[in-house]
Amino acid sequence: MTIPIRLTLNGKPHAIDLDDPRVTLLDLLRERLGLTGAKKGCDRGQCGACTVLVDGRRINSCLQLAASLDGAEVLTIEGLSEGDALHPVQAAFIAHDGFQCGFCTPGQIMSAVGLIREGRAGTDPERIREGMSGNLCRCGAYAGILEAVQDASGRMEHREDAA
Ligand code: FES
Ligand code: FES
Repeated sequence: MTIPIRLTLNGKPHAIDLDDPRVTLLDLLRERLGLTGAKKGCDRGQCGACTVLVDGRRINSCLQLAASLDGAEVLTIEGLSEGDALHPVQAAFIAHDGFQCGFCTPGQIMSAVGLIREGRAGTDPERIREGMSGNLCRCGAYAGILEAVQDASGRMEHREDAA
């Protein structure tokens, strides 16, 4: 028995037949749809490497059953740039060396985008640290990550579509 769901994924409609009701959004993205940007760090909601936006909110995709997302809008790191133009958060991570090995980076960036969209980032370091505390970085690139989020948050405050 399959479970049909419809998703808007990175702006495009998808009709998907799930052959297993237990498949997570992360596994759906990585193993069935070929979107490997979101990473599987812990697979238990502890590291944030799998962060994507669902209906504009940050979630750990390793904890979310795909079957529960019928009709949802999902944004992954693959859908963030507009053609060759990087999203301001992506550009800020590069400008501020917000990564080393890069494993946590897609999750960090999606979390930062969500935080800024929630209007909870501002440029206060403590608020940003708290807002990003669900995203771990084994390389310890936190100083650059903080600077990147501060920078992008400041820029995006002035954009109408903080997308
Ligand atoms: S892989 Fe999802 S929180 Fe770690
Ligand atoms: S850059 Fe390596 S885990 Fe964060």
